Amino acid sequence: MAKPARSDAPSGRVSNQTAGRDAEVLGSKLREIASVVFSPSEAKTLRRFTSGEVARILGLTDSRVRQLSPELLVSPPEVVAGGRRMYTLADIHALRAHLNEIDRVGKRYVPHRDPDKGEHLQVVACVNFKGGSGKTTTSAHLAQSLVLRGYRVLAIDLDPQASLSTLFGVRPENARHPYPTIYDAIQYGPGRRPLEDVIMRTYFTGLDLVAADLELEVFEFEAPLQSTRRGTNDSEPPFFARIGLALDQIAASYDVVVIDCPPRLGYLTIAALCAATSLLVTIHPQMLDVSSMRQFLKMMDELMAPLREQGAAPDHDWFRYLVTRFEPQDTPQAEVVAMLRSLFGERVLSKAMLQSAAISNSGLRGQTVYETPLRRDEVTGSTYRRALEALDAVNGEIEELMARAWGRS
Ligand SMILES: Nc1ncnc2c1ncn2[C@@H]1O[C@H](COP(=O)(O)OP(=O)(O)OP(=O)(O)O)[C@@H](O)[C@H]1O
Ligand SMILES: [Mg+2]
Repeated sequence: MAKPARSDAPSGRVSNQTAGRDAEVLGSKLREIASVVFSPSEAKTLRRFTSGEVARILGLTDSRVRQLSPELLVSPPEVVAGGRRMYTLADIHALRAHLNEIDRVGKRYVPHRDPDKGEHLQVVACVNFKGGSGKTTTSAHLAQSLVLRGYRVLAIDLDPQASLSTLFGVRPENARHPYPTIYDAIQYGPGRRPLEDVIMRTYFTGLDLVAADLELEVFEFEAPLQSTRRGTNDSEPPFFARIGLALDQIAASYDVVVIDCPPRLGYLTIAALCAATSLLVTIHPQMLDVSSMRQFLKMMDELMAPLREQGAAPDHDWFRYLVTRFEPQDTPQAEVVAMLRSLFGERVLSKAMLQSAAISNSGLRGQTVYETPLRRDEVTGSTYRRALEALDAVNGEIEELMARAWGRS
């Protein structure tokens, strides 16, 4: 492990290499922590699911799941103590495909969009410039929940901090393995790559990822420079069209794209707003957060105004506020939520994401709640179930909005 830059220089001043040395120390500590969660190959893996969990995911009874032939499974069934069969996510997808085949009512188990019916790619941008409002946690759980519901999902990490990439198994601290990022697909000049070359499959079968890293920051400098040069350089699409154009290349392969935006209103976020078909604004219900959100909305509107005039900022299918890290028993928080509901009505999602130790504990281990099996030493069964129920309720509401945008309901 690298030596910590513990003490100041003899003069009592701090060495100007402190940040660099601290980054090295932190890097090796993060690798050490990650090695506990990840397999020795350093690739993140996903646990198997019980028949009860599979039943919940597929909307069947436990016994119906157990009656389904093991031959339908992708991998040899793993049987644990008590004779219970454990299923991989690929198995769950295979069972879903089988159920869809034999479904007499209609193809309800594989809800892929049908472009021939005008069901367009849904691009959901998760935004707010308040740091820690739950954008990444919301994006990660929404993306995985939609995969569990049978959709083809692409998650895009648009934050140079790369939190979503880290959560989904790509670790920026592992500098030995450079990986492609969204920057490769939106940068200016001849180095730009097609989006499909940048997409990574993840351990969460059916969920694809376009990762981020600090290099993405370069776009924030390039975009204004290139905008001022426009005219001499018209073959380059403008900054606000670059994410949308990249998405056009891969639209046919997906039903939903979830974009985790950085906590600021820079060129990346504006490009995401222009590519998005829907907006999800996460808000922690406290007055300071609401006040900062007001500034965010005002600035967003001002920045988008010239783009609207150029026809570059389309209307959205839906625009919803999602209350995050909500503690209903906290009266001031409950009052803020009531105020938001009275002001914005149905544009505040009726379900809120509760503050939950199940979510923060999973987060600490670099996992989502959907990935983490219940660990009774950390949270009680009821805490875990409440978190899952809240997540399912929020994500179910968003699924309904998608269905409405497709004209399904
Ligand atoms: N519902 C919740 N219950 C408990 N902890 C939560 C919940 N939602 C988020 N957190 C925790 O709050 C922290 C901030 O969440 P998150 O990273 O999702 O916010 P963010 O808006 O993406 O932040 P940033 O603006 O820095 O990108 C994380 O440690 C996360 O685990
Ligand atoms: Mg984030």
